[in-house]
Order: sequence, then structure tokens, then C-alpha cells
Amino acid sequence: QPTRVASPLRLTFNEVAQGLDQHLHVPQGYSHQVLLRWGDPIFQQVAEFDPQQQSAKNQNLQFGFNNDFVGFIPLPLGSQNSQHGLLVVNHEHTKAHLMHPGSPKDADLSLEQTKIDLAAHGLSVVEVKRQANGEWQLVKASRYNRRITAETPMQLSGWARGHQRMKTLYSKNGVDTWGTYGNCAGGVTPWGTVLTAEENINKYFKGDLDNCPEQENYRRFGFKGDVRKSWGLHFDRWDLDKNPQEGLHAGWIVEIDPFDAQSKPRKLTSLGRFKHEGCNVHINTDGRVVAYMGDDQKFEYVYRFISRDTYRAGNTAADRAFNLTLLDNGELSVAQFSEDGSLHWQPLVYGQGPLTPANGFHSQADIALDTRKAADLLAATPMDRPEDVEVNPVNGKVYVMLTKNDSRKPDQLNAPNPRAYNKAGQVVELIAPQGDHSASVFKWDLTLLAGNPKQTITNYHTATSDNGWLACPDNCAFDNLGHLWLSTDGAEDHGVADGLWAMPVDNPLHGLSKRFLRCPIGAELCGPFFTPDNTTLFCAIQHPGGDSTFDKPDTRWPDFADDMPCRPALVAIWKDDGGVVGS
Ligand code: FEO
Ligand code: CA
Ligand code: CA
Ligand code: CA
Repeated sequence: QPTRVASPLRLTFNEVAQGLDQHLHVPQGYSHQVLLRWGDPIFQQVAEFDPQQQSAKNQNLQFGFNNDFVGFIPLPLGSQNSQHGLLVVNHEHTKAHLMHPGSPKDADLSLEQTKIDLAAHGLSVVEVKRQANGEWQLVKASRYNRRITAETPMQLSGWARGHQRMKTLYSKNGVDTWGTYGNCAGGVTPWGTVLTAEENINKYFKGDLDNCPEQENYRRFGFKGDVRKSWGLHFDRWDLDKNPQEGLHAGWIVEIDPFDAQSKPRKLTSLGRFKHEGCNVHINTDGRVVAYMGDDQKFEYVYRFISRDTYRAGNTAADRAFNLTLLDNGELSVAQFSEDGSLHWQPLVYGQGPLTPANGFHSQADIALDTRKAADLLAATPMDRPEDVEVNPVNGKVYVMLTKNDSRKPDQLNAPNPRAYNKAGQVVELIAPQGDHSASVFKWDLTLLAGNPKQTITNYHTATSDNGWLACPDNCAFDNLGHLWLSTDGAEDHGVADGLWAMPVDNPLHGLSKRFLRCPIGAELCGPFFTPDNTTLFCAIQHPGGDSTFDKPDTRWPDFADDMPCRPALVAIWKDDGGVVGS
């Protein structure tokens, strides 16, 4: 529960100017270090990255592409150490035109290039230590370091585990599954695991939907049957004509135990299947675990899961084994916003209301698999692309990043999504009554209408500078004083680089956002994650170079060497005087 006090006095850093160039910019008085780049070996005795001679063998032992989520877990487990810990980083997707000489299309990769592609997805787990000079160092000889790829052995858990619909060409028991991809944001649990969110998984599959037994499900998920990636051309696994159920093995939240490099990650089917953006958990007043999740597509929904069992605060092996089951049993619900400022959580429970055989639901497993359809039937509120959803540890409110929705027509407006042809996005806050996150009725409020105030209706604090406006909020983080840190994906469409802004949300300076960081051209900012003491901020710079090519990139950040392409990379940022980030 909130124990810290919000202060309006903290965000005193010198604001970074709006603009767009080849470089990363942080405020005066701050330093940044490029800690891990695509292709960097994360184990000992692995060859240095050679962009002209990349191989699947090497990529399996190197940092992957397009880093998105970043989580820092202090070592030892349970401590608040801000000098030593594990970094867990998602590699959401690839851009073949930025990875391979000749700049091929994603759908045109050879078999070997496709194997590189599989290995460039997933996650990296690495041990890192802070040095006396303030820089962080990768510990290559660590027993924790691990690459998880699109082929890593995993298991399904929760409602759909072992269900008939989960049996595939390769998974005869409907329990075994392999790999994770499309991993966007995520969350770190209080028990020291990472939840990683499978988002745009539809684009990895090929096959004729008209003859597919799961065509209704797949169409609702956005499968098209076209070839956008080469995976289904080289591997039957992603060819729905040969392996029609495989699409149901993706679109989940996956729980990873970074303390055991041999552990099998688990796909948590009780959290529903949709374009998962992230998953952040909060321990409720009664000890149950509440997870908040967004479905990142136009007109999709915000979800909540409440565990049946209560969290055990210890870190013994028995406590951890128990906590690893918390997200398997409980209640999944979807948000229905009312114009009067209330929010009703609608439970997705088999047999209740319309969720019956008459509508194609035969068990709770069907609810896990056809979550969007179940939410449609319960009249959930269609949102402007729900991205990160996180609880502010200081005020206990839940903040929802809604990135944009330029397809919303004037007759489709609703109170939390009040702008037609919304190109800039907004932030909505959800308020649990008396801090009880299991309540079925919340209140909600509009935190921020984002965008350039000269171009759209916004609600920034009147003292916000010309550098303080932002567009297309995507990921978020909170510092120890409860300030909201928002990263963006899409600001270049508004004429400025993507980056990171910090904003008070709970005091007289509410809405006074300030730009803290500017990405190099083409990149979005992901991750933001603070060490417990807030003296280091980790950020993922995703797809620098954007739509340019390997051969002719818009920037060669971060190496700026003629023989290196632009590379997605994880950066560490700190204040030169050792103070907390933001001061
Ligand atoms: Fe992968 Fe929702 O952005
Ligand atoms: Ca995102
Ligand atoms: Ca976050
Ligand atoms: Ca994004």
C-alpha cells in the first residue's frame, strides 16, 4: 500500500528540446551508456557480432533485435539492491530490411535468415553490475544469462492447458509448447518473475483461413492468411494449412523465472488470449494478486485478473513455487466504462450471462481462447489501443496508456475516448474504491489528452513548455514519488522524435509534463524501468533507423561506424552527481 508521499518538487531536470536527429539526447547533467546492442554476445566465448556474416548459431547466443520491455530484478532476490541485478529484456520483432545486407523483406528470407529471425525474437536474461565509475557491466560468466527464442521449450498452464483445441502437429498433449514471439511490454512480479506479453502474433502465420477450423477465432484476432513473415514458408509449425491449431499457442502472457536458466517458461492461459501489450501485478489489500492488461488494437479492451489465492511474501523455494501458481486460478474480467465516471468490471465466467454453448462457449478454456469474443458479448468499452496499464505505487491508481486510434469516427466517441480521428492518444486513470482492486465497480478519470496543443484539444498543465507535449503514449513507469514517466511510439508523425516524458499526476502540478529523453530518428522508446533507488533508468531504444535500410540507414546509432548498421540497444541513464533520475 502507498507509503511514500508525492512531492511536486522533484522533476527539476533541464528539459530536452523537441527535435529529430540521428542521436540520443538526455538532459544536461546526465550520462547515458549503451549497455547491450543487437548482436552483442551475452555469453563467454561467443564471436563478436559481424553484420555481414550473421548466423543463427551466433544469434542464439547474442542479444536479440528490437528490445521492448525491460525489467530489473535486484540480486539477491528480495533485496532492494540498485547496483547488481538481472535485466530481462524482450525482443519484440524484427525488421529484415535493417538486419541483413541487401535489405530483404520479412517475407523473403532464406531458410538460414529465417533461423536467424527466430533466434532474434524472444527475450534475453543477463546479470549486470554497476561499476565505481557509474557504468554498468554485463557479467558474461553468469549462471543466469539466457536467451529465450521462438523455439525454447515451454508449457501451457491455466484454463486451456491440455484442452483438445491446444493439440497440434507437435504438441500431442496440448501442454507442451515452444517459444515466444511478438513480445511487447511486460511486468516484474513481487515474487521475482517476469511476465512477457505476446502481442502481434497473427503476422507470423500463413495459411488459408477459409478451410481452417479456427477461422472465426483467427479472424477476430486479425489473422489474414497472407504471408507477412517467412516462418510459415520454411517451417510447418507456422503454416495453418498443415498445423491449424498452432495459432492458439500464441497470444498469451508468458511467465519466466529468471533465477533458473533451465526453467520452462509457462504460458498463462487464464489471463486470456489477445494482443497482449503488457501485464502488471499489484498485491491487493487482502493479499490476492490483481493483474492489469491491455489489448493493443484499435477498439479493443482493458482487462483485469484477480487471483483466487493470496500471495506469500517469503522467498523460500516453497513460497516461490506457490506464487508461480497464482496467475492460473482466479477471475478474468473486462472493463466497461460509463459516461458518469464509473467503471464496471464484467467477469468472463463460463456459463454466466451470454458465455454459454448457445454462443459457442463450452468451458472456461473457450473463454481463455476466445477472450475477445467473450468481451464483445459483455459490451466491453472499445478503447483507443490500450498499451501499458500500471498501478502507481504512491497513489494506488491504475494508469492506462491509450496510444491512438485514427479510425474512431465522431459517432463512435465515448467518455474515455473523446476525440475522433485520434492521432495522439490519451491516458486514463482507474480508481479502486478504498484501494480495493478486487471491487467490481471503480471510478475513472482522464489523466491526459496528449498531442501538440497547437493541433488538437489537450489538457496539459498551463505551465507546460513547448518541449513538454507528447504524442502516442505506449509504455510507462513510476518513480518512487509517483511521477508518471511516459514513453512514446509515434511522435514522429507529429514532427518530433519519440522519447520519454515525466509528469506529476497527483498534486497541483498535475499535467506538467517535461521531455526527458529524445530517441534517434526512426526509434521508439520502450521499457523505461528504474532501479529501486531510482538512480539508474534503463530504456530500450527500439528500431532506430525506422523504415530505412541496412545498406542506407537514416542513422548508424549507436556505433556510428561505417561497417555497422543501426542497432536497437538498451541504454542505462544516470545523473552525474549520483542523484535520483528526474531531479
Ligand atoms: Fe508492441 Fe503495443 O506496441
Ligand atoms: Ca508497446
Ligand atoms: Ca512499464
Ligand atoms: Ca510500440
